[in-house]
Amino acid sequence: MIEVKNIRKSFGDKVILEDITGVLDTGKCNLIIGSSGSGKTVFTKCVVGLFRPDRGEILYDGKNMLEMDREERTELRQKIGMLFQGSALFDSMTVEQNIIFTLDMFSNLSYRDKKKRVNEVLEKVELEGSNKKFPAEISGGMKKRVGIARAIVLNPKYLFCDEPNSGLDPQTSLVIDQLIKNITTEYNITTVVVTHDMNSVMEIGDHIMYLYKGRKEWEGSNKDIIFSKNERLNEFIFASEFLQGAKAIRMLEVEGKIEEGAAVKEAEKIIKEGDNLP
Ligand SMILES: Nc1ncnc2c1ncn2[C@@H]1O[C@H](COP(=O)(O)OP(=O)(O)OP(=O)(O)O)[C@@H](O)[C@H]1O
Ligand SMILES: [Mg+2]
Repeated sequence: MIEVKNIRKSFGDKVILEDITGVLDTGKCNLIIGSSGSGKTVFTKCVVGLFRPDRGEILYDGKNMLEMDREERTELRQKIGMLFQGSALFDSMTVEQNIIFTLDMFSNLSYRDKKKRVNEVLEKVELEGSNKKFPAEISGGMKKRVGIARAIVLNPKYLFCDEPNSGLDPQTSLVIDQLIKNITTEYNITTVVVTHDMNSVMEIGDHIMYLYKGRKEWEGSNKDIIFSKNERLNEFIFASEFLQGAKAIRMLEVEGKIEEGAAVKEAEKIIKEGDNLP
């Protein structure tokens, strides 16, 4: 479990994150949503220790990362896997070399065992046999999967994925979402997914934090989200094509043309059946 308390982060005199507090639970997909520029990536980078917040606490299983000494931080780093926005694979390295790179940095395994581990994680993301391919030779969805394979190669306790679905078609996105969900429950890890994809929100959003201009504006589950009374959140989620049908139902409810219980049922049905999915 990760607890974030009163995080503030600025660059120069520009405040990016203000007073963010929240819990990221174990065994769950914790989603960070919000429009472009709302601070999702900066927040994630603070939590994993790539940016140092101006103030606040970041507790990993009760221990404040910001007060750890070098040794403790290095130890913690090895328990964190991260899929960066845009995959961030090394173009000049093969798929296998990209993954072995992490093992070289943080493990003392023999070369043989490293290769074995690479094959295990490639199998996990259904990319068996792609070891010798270069990033330029594989599709965007495959790159994301290599990124995930690299992120889980050290058996992380905490997995961070920044926009795992950006640039992917809805079907491939669903595969990636399912993969992230499976890894989370199978290994019982704390997963944090940054996204503005409403399909993902409905599909895997066990716990969702909505950021608006660097502040936490709302939190809840995918069950609560379309019935939230938060206007900014409603504007954000109903801008999605995916939820147009659910929005129409909500509007009827707001206008008193349909009672709340019926609206909830209808909207849930629409979400289940994938309203407007291509
Ligand atoms: N290293 C940096 N130095 C200065 N400003 C930064 C830095 N990184 C991010 N910012 C600023 O912080 C704000 C939030 O950026 P961030 O990347 O967290 O947005 P985001 O919510 O992830 O957006 P997107 O959905 O487009 O990825 C932006 O205004 C951005 O310009
Ligand atoms: Mg971002």
